[in-house]
Amino acid sequence: MQIHQFFSRWLLVSLLAVSVSKITAADSPREHLSLDANWKFHLGDDWPGALHLDKAGASTGPASEKFGDNSWRTLNLPHDWAIELPFDQNSDASHGFKPVGPGFPKNSIGWYRRTFDLPAEDSGKRIWLTFDGAFRDVTVWVNGWLVKRHEGGYYPFREDITDVAHFGGKNTVAVRVDATKFEGWFYEGAGIYRHVWLDKTAPVAIAPDGVFVWTTFSNDIPVVCTETHLINRGAPVLSLETWYQVFDPNGQRVAGGSLSQNSFKEPVLKTECTVNYSERRIMSVPSPELWSPENPKLYKLITTVLVSNNIVDQKETFFGIRTVGFDATNGFLLNGKHYELYGTCNHQDMAGVGAALPDSLQEFRVKKLKEFGCNAIRTSHNPPTPELLDACDRLGMLIMDESRLLGSDEENLRKWDDQIRRDRNHACVAIWSVANEEFSVQDSPQGGNVARTMQNYVKQLDPTRPVTYAAPEGDTFAGINGVIEVRGWNYHVGGDMDKYHAEHPNQPEVGTEQASTVSTRGIYANDAVRGYVSAYDDNAPSWATTTETWWSYFADRPWLSGGFVWTGFDYRGEPTPYGWPCINSHFGILDVCGFPKDNFYYYQSWWTTNTVLHLLPHWNWPGKEGQEIKVNALSNCKQVELFLNGASLGKQTMKPNSKLSWQVKYAPGTLSAKGFDDAGNVIAETKVETTGDATQIKLTPDRNTINADGEDVSVFTVSATDARGRVVPVAQNKINFALEGAGKILGVGNGDPSCHEPDTFISSLPVRAIAVNDWHWKLAKLPDGSGLAPEYAPEFDDAAWNTIKPKTDGDTGDMFLKPGETAIYRAHVKLTEDDLNNPGVQIRFGTIDDHGWVFVNNQRVGESHDWSSPPMFDIKKALHAGDNVIAVGVKNDESSGGLSPDVNVEIIGKPMSSPWSRSLFNGLAQIIVQSTKDAGEIKLTASADGLQSATATITAQPAAPRPSVP
Ligand code: GAL
Repeated sequence: MQIHQFFSRWLLVSLLAVSVSKITAADSPREHLSLDANWKFHLGDDWPGALHLDKAGASTGPASEKFGDNSWRTLNLPHDWAIELPFDQNSDASHGFKPVGPGFPKNSIGWYRRTFDLPAEDSGKRIWLTFDGAFRDVTVWVNGWLVKRHEGGYYPFREDITDVAHFGGKNTVAVRVDATKFEGWFYEGAGIYRHVWLDKTAPVAIAPDGVFVWTTFSNDIPVVCTETHLINRGAPVLSLETWYQVFDPNGQRVAGGSLSQNSFKEPVLKTECTVNYSERRIMSVPSPELWSPENPKLYKLITTVLVSNNIVDQKETFFGIRTVGFDATNGFLLNGKHYELYGTCNHQDMAGVGAALPDSLQEFRVKKLKEFGCNAIRTSHNPPTPELLDACDRLGMLIMDESRLLGSDEENLRKWDDQIRRDRNHACVAIWSVANEEFSVQDSPQGGNVARTMQNYVKQLDPTRPVTYAAPEGDTFAGINGVIEVRGWNYHVGGDMDKYHAEHPNQPEVGTEQASTVSTRGIYANDAVRGYVSAYDDNAPSWATTTETWWSYFADRPWLSGGFVWTGFDYRGEPTPYGWPCINSHFGILDVCGFPKDNFYYYQSWWTTNTVLHLLPHWNWPGKEGQEIKVNALSNCKQVELFLNGASLGKQTMKPNSKLSWQVKYAPGTLSAKGFDDAGNVIAETKVETTGDATQIKLTPDRNTINADGEDVSVFTVSATDARGRVVPVAQNKINFALEGAGKILGVGNGDPSCHEPDTFISSLPVRAIAVNDWHWKLAKLPDGSGLAPEYAPEFDDAAWNTIKPKTDGDTGDMFLKPGETAIYRAHVKLTEDDLNNPGVQIRFGTIDDHGWVFVNNQRVGESHDWSSPPMFDIKKALHAGDNVIAVGVKNDESSGGLSPDVNVEIIGKPMSSPWSRSLFNGLAQIIVQSTKDAGEIKLTASADGLQSATATITAQPAAPRPSVP
């Protein structure tokens, strides 16, 4: 009814809407810029006293603008320093044996710094700094001001930094990341492992995550609804107009309109404070293309905001027209029809890169999952990175979007709020999960209360999606299960489920987490010493099941909606059923690189409509001649016939959702199979051959052309073939890599759960220290901080001054100044042209107690006000070849003070890269190659002792890099 009224009004505004359809994002002052490139990074808490809470802008060390970070490593985000550390048996198994977190203070704090210019013309705009996520507790300073303290490794955080920004000058962001605390029981990484953004907006702007668009259906007519949340941090606004335009998947404008509000009695958006103003619009879209994993068609909403007829903001939001729901009898419904969830749970790390995935690896992983029919991902056990959701929207993959922790306290609800607002426009997001396996509280009334509050919260922010909880329980109804909309099942395949369904016939259900089958790629016997599990689908921990057990049970019960396998990919940590030397999990259908294990073909058989026929194991068993070997066929053919060297070993009939098995006396040669349909026609054939020894390396890029945008990647499969070109499934050769051209190596892996070889090879910065000795000093009056004293001048004669003995090890140097005294210290350092031709030169002091003003050749290079932080300053610009004079004015506050003579000038050379390598594991390894911003060829060479080398060349094609802060 309301909708009809709206439509008649709509006609009145549609003419206007046509004229606005030409507006582009360029017409809006908003800029959304990547701040990922060129950060400086230092691992270690060398400045424990950096954080000062007593006075604004008083923080020291790297938090201060004046800090010199020359000797720090330069890197691009996303970055995970945990992946760079060596494995350590004494560290946490569930986190993948990386020495970071509790018990490893040296490796658990990292500092990042980045400088950038803001043009003077930006003055008047608002400047926002947004972090998509970092692990784990973060302190952010901008220009020395403490602007953010954030806890939690999976949630975004942002700050409006306008007040402390330098317009027309240099700005410094310093970030201290503290990964001391764990949040999960799986590998979590460390550092700024998601993107960082700088947004510039007008004072009146769409709030961060301030657009909500969703669809409802009224008499089968889809109606697009949108809600916009605006903020004003400028002058009061009395006249406000918003335009909405909807574009179909082909870019045609299919709906639109405007709403103008010109006659507010009170300013709708007040001045100098943030006032939230929201409004809702609805628009009908005729004959829509419905979104689904099979047809991931996206619509686009453009929201434009005008103040006094000027465009002040514009945002594009992609969305899908589709409905989701759960039904107690028919299970999950997509666009009104039963849709079986072929899901996988996944953590966020991958071989080579840890938790820091470039966007193209999100896409790579989604495509890998789709290959075996997976149509849904549970982001266990935390909110995902937004780019995973973008990839799922585009490629067609449903999402169960999970919170990190159950909690209805203010902080947890704020995070839940952020998560929902950020993710609710994504077509892929089908259901929210309030939590996973909250053993201590799940059956309690309080657990139920908290879950209810979180569920109600969802209903306020997102009326379109159901809510579940991943419950590791049988037929329990007390607590969370009794209040949650969709009952989630973690494990418990069997009687409990039917009983529960009979007792609660009106509650929809879903398999939130199933299987936890363990297997290692290419391994066919358990090996507790090396930490490998057979891939025959025979092994699962006590709470779990084999692949066939859970799936054949679920497939018969549509009311269960399908489920989510633990897990799609192996991940670091949780090496169940073993411990060291295993450093990653065995649960994946794919290994940590994305190479399929045999179970991949079971799922592909029953989750896709492809004709599948796969045999296991491989057929290289020297020494086992005449012994029986179990051969399985994974297939969806009606019948399968097995042959060894051409002789039939019998034909068997396949039961749906099962597999076939033979015992075969081993003889080298060819094991082959034929698959038949109902009518007895051969519809599939496959074979496994005994290969010769490996003779030749093979490199196969997943993409031959990538974008020269500095972010895109190609993922190379590395294998070894025999003289006849057949991939050798047991090859374990160590492969060395060299790269030439417009690319760089990002990481390597091989899927071996017990491999301790590095995933990354970091180039080091050579630093040569030149000790600055022979200090002369004298009590003296100091000019104002930046002023020059005659004694700072290079030519000043200090021969009659006091001297200090050079610092020796264990000796902090003498401190001569009494409380309140001031003094000047001088020393000389000789440098050559060659020294100065290096990329960086800095000075590093041991202690300046309490205040110091540092001059090199009469040029001021920095100041220091914290005796506990060793000051470092960039001095290259002030130096010349020959003799250089360093002068420091020092003021002591309390007890004894002064300058300790452990001072070094550090010459920082060019980064030195170390050679990359990785062993094959059961025939395969992986190398991830990333583009630079230069177009051209990227040539990868792989070599190994005793094998013929391989070279593969891909092209980095010219591509516009994403808009970035220079
Ligand atoms: C589940 C848990 C997962 C993982 C899995 C291993 O109970 O939710 O995070 O630990 O067990 O089987």
